[in-house]
Amino acid sequence: MSETSPRYLVPFHPKRVPHFFTDVLIIGGGLAGLRTALEVDPGLSVLVICKGRLDQSNSYQAQGGVAAVLSPEDSFEQHVDDTLDAGGSLVDREVAERVIRRAPEEIERLISWGTEFDRVDDRLALAREGAHSCNRVAHALGDATGKEIMRAVIARAGNRPNIQIWAETFTIDLLTHEGACRGALVWNGRHGKTAVWAKQTVLCTGGSGQIYRETTNPSVATGDGMAIAYRAGAELRDMEFMQFHPTVLYIAGSSRNLITEAMRGEGAYLVDRTGNRFMPEYDQRAELAPRDIVSRAIVTQMEKTRHPNVYLDLTHLDPQRVRSRFPGIAAFCAKFELDITRDRIPVRPGAHYMIGGVTVDAEGRTTVPGLFAAGEVSSSGLHGANRLASNSLLEAMVCGAIVGRCVSRDADKIVDDFHALPLENRPTSVVNGQPLDLDDIRNSLKSLTWRLAGVRRDGEGLAEAAQNINHWCRYVLDCQFDDPTGWELQNMLLIARFMIEAAAVRTETRGVHVRTDFPRTDDSRWNHHITFRRDPAGA
Ligand code: SIN
Repeated sequence: MSETSPRYLVPFHPKRVPHFFTDVLIIGGGLAGLRTALEVDPGLSVLVICKGRLDQSNSYQAQGGVAAVLSPEDSFEQHVDDTLDAGGSLVDREVAERVIRRAPEEIERLISWGTEFDRVDDRLALAREGAHSCNRVAHALGDATGKEIMRAVIARAGNRPNIQIWAETFTIDLLTHEGACRGALVWNGRHGKTAVWAKQTVLCTGGSGQIYRETTNPSVATGDGMAIAYRAGAELRDMEFMQFHPTVLYIAGSSRNLITEAMRGEGAYLVDRTGNRFMPEYDQRAELAPRDIVSRAIVTQMEKTRHPNVYLDLTHLDPQRVRSRFPGIAAFCAKFELDITRDRIPVRPGAHYMIGGVTVDAEGRTTVPGLFAAGEVSSSGLHGANRLASNSLLEAMVCGAIVGRCVSRDADKIVDDFHALPLENRPTSVVNGQPLDLDDIRNSLKSLTWRLAGVRRDGEGLAEAAQNINHWCRYVLDCQFDDPTGWELQNMLLIARFMIEAAAVRTETRGVHVRTDFPRTDDSRWNHHITFRRDPAGA
């Protein structure tokens, strides 16, 4: 599938923007970005561009942990089988095996860099999460694993003389020449636009949960990496597979904080407004069924009980253990007068992890030469149609390391000819975006996707969603904005359009994509990826 839209969001004249040169440009400062940076040959210069602050990434906010085979009771085969069981036949087995086999060495590396994982009697404490057949999730600070991992990784990157980090810098578009990526046009409040030229560019920009009204994702997760890759000619795939986390805090006025699946691993129950523990009615694994099943069951139970949420109940567990295992969640809930050892926690599903993204091969190469991707922005084949819990930090580390090695090799082969490159910047329109109420469009988009392309979808709702989004796209995508609010909205609309289109086309239910009008999986027609690629004639 393809559609036409402007190649670049903004006009720029090469003689009127400052230029910056680096061997490797990494866009994104989460775990995938910094792990890639740390693997690049120290003789090469690396620039990491980060849209917000380094503590605003999804990686930083991760609670549950990292899945890895770390005990004698576990095996690589079991971890691979669990990944395949959750993700189904769209999981690429070779990718799953490669990532899972490298997990223990990545955990060791993090420990050697100073990450302090939680321990019991000197051994790593391993938690259970949904659809895992074994306790294999390493965690830190109880329920703040991402914060602890990122503390160590940020410190390590800060000590590397070849790595520079530009925080609060927005990437507007990738620069291409003769079909290959040669860097990016970026913007920040200090310098305005800068053309960053790079021998190799890596996208590690995370996901797109902010396209939904209810989401666990930080405000920066607006799908920018997928949008800029698409405009540069890269293939996107699996855009219909947005994973909904079953348990997101639902209190009026509070941010939609993730309530980690590890709570259910510790024995928490899901109950409805009447106190009925309903999960055993839906799946024999009860609260530890895969996420798609739990999210769907919660939505059904909310409807049955005519209530806007269900509850996580930990009141039967040892209060001391609950407080020490989940200190962050306990403190956050206390702000709303909830004592998680005595009160039930109101929760419902929210958009959590974008399974689809920029198509990459085994080495993280996208379909555009000179452009790589790692982590949530990419579609590596690890997750199939439903990601196994805690496989994402793992993917960020293993794939980041693979990409870091590859770009080091490839950068050596590129001649330093940046000064001679003409820029292909032909903006198609000069409509000024000034009169638009961008917040209004953004909120309307988020409500629309939540209502019509959420945990459950159907053809009629998706057609309505497509009609609205196409209408908004017609007058927003051709506008020229001069700051990130407008560019971000343009990216969100573009990505939402693909998510809706793919969801409408896939007339079956598979993994996290649940069509109420096509409730069965139809392997005869749909056991393949749905892809998007820009029609170059649209430039
Ligand atoms: C969680 O802590 O429940 C989230 C972990 C994940 O998304 O893998």
